[in-house]
Amino acid sequence: MMTRMILDGLAIEMKADERLIDLLLRTGSKVPHVCYHTQLGPIQTCDTCMVEVNGQLVRACATTVSAGMDVATKSSRADAAQREAFDRILGNHMLYCTVCDNNNGNCTVHNTTKMLAVEHQKIPFKTKPYEADFTNPFYRYDPDQCILCGRCVEACQNVEVNETLSIRWEDAHPRVLWDGGTTIGESSCVSCGHCVTVCPCNALMETSMIGHAGFLTALPKTAMDGMIDVIKGIEPDSGYGAILKVSEAESAMRESRIRRTKTVCTYCGVGCSFDIWTKDRDILKVEPSEGPTNGISTCIKGKFGWDFVNSPDRLTTPLIREGGKFRAASWEEALDLVARRFVEIKERTGPDSLAFISSSKCTNEESYLMQKLARAVVGTNNMDNCSRYCQSPATEGLFRTVGYGGDSGSIRDIENAGLVIIIGSNTAESHPVLATRVKQAHKLRGQKLIVSDLRKHEMAERADLFVHPKPATDVVWLSAVTRYLLKNGLAKTGFLNQWVNGLEDYQRSVEPFTMEFAAQTCGLSVETLKQIAHMIAEADGVCILWAMGITQHSMGSDASTAISNLLLVTGNYMRTGTGAYPLRGHNNVQGASDHGAMPNFLPGYQSMDDPEVRARFENGWKVTLPSTKGLDNHEMIDAIHEGKLKAMYLFGEEISLVDSNSNLVRDGLSKLEFFVAQDIFFSDTCRFADVVLPASPSLEKEGTFTSTERRIQRLYQVLEPMEGSRPDWKIIQDIANRLGANWDYRHPSEIYREIASLTPLFTGVSYERLEGYKSLQWPVASDGTDEPMLYTKQFAFPDGKARLFQISLSKPTDPTDAEFDLHLNNGRMLEHFHEGNLTYRVDGIREKVPDTFVEVSPETAEERGIQSGTWVQLISRYGQVRVRALVTNRVKGKELYMPMNSAESPVNLLTSSHTDRVTHTPAYKETSVRMRVLPEIGESPLPRVNSRFGHPTPQRGVEVERKWKRPDYRIPGSELGRIEPKYS
Ligand code: SF4
Ligand code: SF4
Ligand code: SF4
Ligand code: FES
Repeated sequence: MMTRMILDGLAIEMKADERLIDLLLRTGSKVPHVCYHTQLGPIQTCDTCMVEVNGQLVRACATTVSAGMDVATKSSRADAAQREAFDRILGNHMLYCTVCDNNNGNCTVHNTTKMLAVEHQKIPFKTKPYEADFTNPFYRYDPDQCILCGRCVEACQNVEVNETLSIRWEDAHPRVLWDGGTTIGESSCVSCGHCVTVCPCNALMETSMIGHAGFLTALPKTAMDGMIDVIKGIEPDSGYGAILKVSEAESAMRESRIRRTKTVCTYCGVGCSFDIWTKDRDILKVEPSEGPTNGISTCIKGKFGWDFVNSPDRLTTPLIREGGKFRAASWEEALDLVARRFVEIKERTGPDSLAFISSSKCTNEESYLMQKLARAVVGTNNMDNCSRYCQSPATEGLFRTVGYGGDSGSIRDIENAGLVIIIGSNTAESHPVLATRVKQAHKLRGQKLIVSDLRKHEMAERADLFVHPKPATDVVWLSAVTRYLLKNGLAKTGFLNQWVNGLEDYQRSVEPFTMEFAAQTCGLSVETLKQIAHMIAEADGVCILWAMGITQHSMGSDASTAISNLLLVTGNYMRTGTGAYPLRGHNNVQGASDHGAMPNFLPGYQSMDDPEVRARFENGWKVTLPSTKGLDNHEMIDAIHEGKLKAMYLFGEEISLVDSNSNLVRDGLSKLEFFVAQDIFFSDTCRFADVVLPASPSLEKEGTFTSTERRIQRLYQVLEPMEGSRPDWKIIQDIANRLGANWDYRHPSEIYREIASLTPLFTGVSYERLEGYKSLQWPVASDGTDEPMLYTKQFAFPDGKARLFQISLSKPTDPTDAEFDLHLNNGRMLEHFHEGNLTYRVDGIREKVPDTFVEVSPETAEERGIQSGTWVQLISRYGQVRVRALVTNRVKGKELYMPMNSAESPVNLLTSSHTDRVTHTPAYKETSVRMRVLPEIGESPLPRVNSRFGHPTPQRGVEVERKWKRPDYRIPGSELGRIEPKYS
């Protein structure tokens, strides 16, 4: 609603309820503001934004505009207050901009000095009695430069919600504190970088910037101190104006050599996007600001995990196996060999004796080309990607019930839920930025949280209700709760009548799932199950988030279906704050499947069986397509062992470590007649290849990724491909053309134009519509309208209605027994991604987590004489590994947990070949082992500098009221002592 007010003597129209500072910034008023940040809200520590409202001094950041307000930003009182406040800031910060790595045009302290035309400061700069802290490998804190704005505290407490930072305002010399006063290195800091990103000056700075960003900043400390003394010596005579002119000239020179390029994170499926600052090939820093998903947020990997790009281990020449050894080869020779062998094998044993595996780390365009190569050039549907290892059951559960195989809304919709239920997902570690939004809503806005998991991870610790069902029993308690809701009049009958088919058959199918049966099967009490049911029934909107703890089971599809059934019965679809959110693991695992890297679907989940669909693609591609479903990843390995599959082309996929039952997989790969592996490093999988092709990582190419929110985003080329390597799409095209394809894509945008022309789901997607930070969430209509929230008008079935899917009971595979007496769970951890091929090449991450380990409960540790650091051998029915134990109460009783980040002791040497019955996703989470305690005892596998040993200090934010209570505090410009802003 618009209304009127007076601004500096002029009547203006403005939006009611807007923050005054936002109005002032929007209308171009020059009002200083140091602590205010649009994504953090008013912090109220700096006092520089003082203006007069109706004759009274107030902080503009903490004031809401209202009709008739009379605002004076330039009155002598306001001006004096602003200057006094900023003078206090300069008392805490030495202006040595010319030799400062933060002098890049965006330093708030520098820019405010200039805006206020400060020539001399009244309050002299005084050092604080603390040393700078360099104990974190990624950033440093310099208390002497810290202006105590509290932005970092606010970001850590209320955006990241890691709750590490605070300021003890009562101290004689306040500073930012980690865990109340330890070093950064030994604190609970998870190195997410939020604090560094929002710091308005150089007090918190990326280590990679220090000595690298400026022309004069690489000087040794003594020389630097001398330079600073010179600069300070000039100030009394010439004033800051002259000094700033020099620093601005230096800053302008930097623009010619520092590039800022937008990219999308290469790690998890959250889809954070940010600018990467580079100087030649040096990555200076990652700066998140306006990503549609993440804003200022990142996790350790997105913010600091990029050293791998310049690793000396990068593959820079093709390799050909000869006489059991690899030798370097030219691109021509390697590509010719690949084409020749593919032709030979196809002619001899037919197109279905070849198989193709796409990468969920690579772009949509690359997956599209790979499946086009398989189908249109070679003539087989033997095409898959690693969603087979994790996400296919979730997709199946949603296909069965609501129609689209993607998250039903956006992360913003999760934030709006009254209740979030997280099942089988270690969200804070596997999808860190998405978890921050749940943590915020829970901490600040009263959202309720239920967590069901085998481990008491961070989200479980935070939950209002944490339940620990017996392994592989989720489908039972989910169905029992749904049945209870139906039986007790707690279902949303109106919603069911209007929008859902199949209620009667479904009800019959869940009859066996009584509360008593579920309690006994799952090891939960009937009271707990009823509590879950009532929390769901009472919540204003329920979102269910799940991941591999659900999907990687022999009944993964059924458990995913049970989740969607529960949401349907309770009417939790079709509006914000509701829905199903299978959290996609890799950055582009959603996109790889979306773009046809599957054995049964063409791009956009268009069925190979549908003659009309096939005809459209045949027409577009000018070929005849194979119509029978191809082999999935799991079936490919079996087919190799059966002698049916002879050749494979795989890119960006570490199948030998990541597929289940590694011994069987490795054995299969070694039996292939011809195997081409394309990667940026010589991966474990490359060991089995006949030809290895050096590819480029995401920073060296253009394209698009699709995140867990179905959000398609562009990545721009940050660096040239490392010499000798090539972007995957170019390599795939080169191979296709050697096989006679005659493709001529010169840029990924041309590939996307073709995708959009053939795929209704993406009709309106174009590079123009995705420019910069713009994004689209599929389905995208031809006019560019996308759907951040699915099913707002109907479900994705012909009659527009959802379908309750009948549930049946089955037993888990690979159960524990007297010999294999321990249940082994496995998954990701925050610092490393997956097997660690990228993250082990980041020194700082290696420092935090040098190796894998097995988590052992205190009970089992005591029973078997184990301590953290004890070496143990884990033996399953399929293999064995040797690892160090970490004793922790995150796991309970006879349950173990092993992170998957190891090439030396990969957990998949222990897992089986059992799969989800519908999708063939391996039942990774159904693994039993026995444990042999070895005599050696080493160091704890997690060093003391790991954040898990820290002690967070939760508080409401920066708690500025405590600053206002200091005896030496008064509102700037006020003669009246302590007055609180009237309009706050
Ligand atoms: S967790 Fe660490 S890096 Fe992240 S905001 Fe807090 S102190 Fe900063
Ligand atoms: S370290 Fe924190 S309190 Fe200090 S200037 Fe930076 S953001 Fe502000
Ligand atoms: S949360 Fe995921 S997408 Fe975001 S920075 Fe971390 S790894 Fe990257
Ligand atoms: S901007 Fe700092 S108090 Fe308003």
